[in-house]
Amino acid sequence: ETHPDLDLRDHIRGIPDFPKPGILFYDISTLLRHGPAWRAAMERLASMIRPYKPDMLAGIESRGFLVAAPLALELGLGFVMLRKPRKLPGETIGLDYALEYGTDRIEMQADAVKPGQRVVLLDDLLATGGTMAAAIGLLRQAGAEVPAVAALIELTFLNGRDRLDLPCETLLRYDE
Ligand code: PRP
Ligand code: MG
Repeated sequence: ETHPDLDLRDHIRGIPDFPKPGILFYDISTLLRHGPAWRAAMERLASMIRPYKPDMLAGIESRGFLVAAPLALELGLGFVMLRKPRKLPGETIGLDYALEYGTDRIEMQADAVKPGQRVVLLDDLLATGGTMAAAIGLLRQAGAEVPAVAALIELTFLNGRDRLDLPCETLLRYDE
């Protein structure tokens, strides 16, 4: 590892009352801005993902792309974009999921994964787990085997991992 002593917590800010009053927003902008810290984060996540022997990675729009793309390069793999509705050309499949208020939808290209391919799914942050659970469902609908999911940050007090039926690897956990 290039920077074994680097503490990633020094590079993540908690910004109070964003996007709404009472929410503490963990901002990865400062991590992205710092070359050695960003490299350390990607190397450490790569080490956590390698044992699952993925054939491919998938990333969730939009901040998940920032994680999936460099990890795919680091692991020598390709990656699939799971996108917000109507962004992808060609035949797509989608999955609607519930939010606190209303619903959302994610889509992927129908031919993006071959049946049985091992796809590790990435996002920047696991909060309630709703986004990750929907993305897992969509990948399975596409025929993928999902051996694990991973994120940079986990908000443990929201218990998102309880909604997931597979291993979930996270680099940094915050309990408030
Ligand atoms: C954020 C974050 C995760 C998701 C986590 O994305 O990047 O994708 O919420 O929340 P959950 O575990 O409660 O589902 P956001 O919808 O803010 O969009 P962005 O990635 O495009 O910024
Ligand atoms: Mg997101």
